[in-house]
Amino acid sequence: MQKTQFFSWLVSGRPSFHLPALKLLLESMFLSVDPYMRPYSQRIMKEGDIMIGTQVARIVESKNPAFTVGAFVVADRGWRTHFISDGKGLQLLLSSWPESLPKSLALGTVGMPGLTAYFGLLEVCKMKPGETVLVNAAAGTVGSVVGQLAKIGGCKVVGCAGSDDKVAYLKKIGFDEVFNYKTVKSLDEVLHKASPDGYDCFFDNVGGEFASVAINQMKKYGRIAVCGAISQYNDSVPQKGPYMQMPMIYKELQMEGFLVTRWNSRREEGLQALLKWVVEGKVKCHEQVTEGFENMPMAFIGMLKGETLGKAVVKV
Ligand SMILES: NC(=O)c1ccc[n+]([C@@H]2O[C@H](COP(=O)([O-])OP(=O)(O)OC[C@H]3O[C@@H](n4cnc5c(N)ncnc54)[C@H](OP(=O)(O)O)[C@@H]3O)[C@@H](O)[C@H]2O)c1
Repeated sequence: MQKTQFFSWLVSGRPSFHLPALKLLLESMFLSVDPYMRPYSQRIMKEGDIMIGTQVARIVESKNPAFTVGAFVVADRGWRTHFISDGKGLQLLLSSWPESLPKSLALGTVGMPGLTAYFGLLEVCKMKPGETVLVNAAAGTVGSVVGQLAKIGGCKVVGCAGSDDKVAYLKKIGFDEVFNYKTVKSLDEVLHKASPDGYDCFFDNVGGEFASVAINQMKKYGRIAVCGAISQYNDSVPQKGPYMQMPMIYKELQMEGFLVTRWNSRREEGLQALLKWVVEGKVKCHEQVTEGFENMPMAFIGMLKGETLGKAVVKV
């Protein structure tokens, strides 16, 4: 399609081109802002590329019988307001999605970040009832789901975040012990006080210094899910130790990195479980919605600076 034809269609509202057979025209409704965009864009993008990212999009026109006009999908077509697709890789929202539930949650709690919490906790941490779970960046999208799922699973939950407002929010949604890691005098002491017997599971979203302190507070045979390393995403020079081998050996710890895509074949199972908990009110969600496609960079920078509580999304 010619660019000029496409824009004249958008402006006039009248198609001046023919959508080819089996193709769809989609309109982005919500765009996601995620930490992975920082390291991945540095690694896989070159100047002039369209910024990577996912959206909830509405089908505006369809020449593909598998997709009906008006349906909503999750797509990974980057920072675009409109796009044409052959349908490959588009994921329809669950058919049981309630009309009253914001569709933007398909980018957060009932989407990729929620699945990260679900599989990371169940399959990597292998949490069991009665255990103590530690999670950092706890007021973020992944962290807030981790804490709430661990409570549903019968665990004690300790979390930390970078502002007093975030700490208050985490208490409100049921975390047992919470602290502001930016204002504590000694991370070691506060972690010990929150759970004097140590931690069975550590869901690490942050890495760096926090992780190297927390590892010393693990119980014997503890499990560490290495989910993210957001404290290092902006580094131009890699951070150096302290190194983790000694506590790993003496406490016989298991530490496993993972990508949520490992469980793509179980995506439906995870989303159904998350949707059920959200609808029942057992998992609470907080979104920070920025209005306007032109504000994507501002929303992205704000998220990296820790200014967002819960999921950062942009309403196009
Ligand atoms: N392995 C996977 O498949 C997978 C999938 C999704 C996400 N992740 C990772 O999981 C982590 C959380 O993702 P998310 O979607 O929950 O992010 P999010 O909702 O955007 O939350 C990010 C939070 O991280 C905290 N943060 C930012 N810079 C930090 C720093 N230098 N040190 C400590 N904390 C910092 C900030 O909160 P504070 O105010 O509390 O500092 C910020 O609000 C990220 O590391 C992400 O890359 C991994």
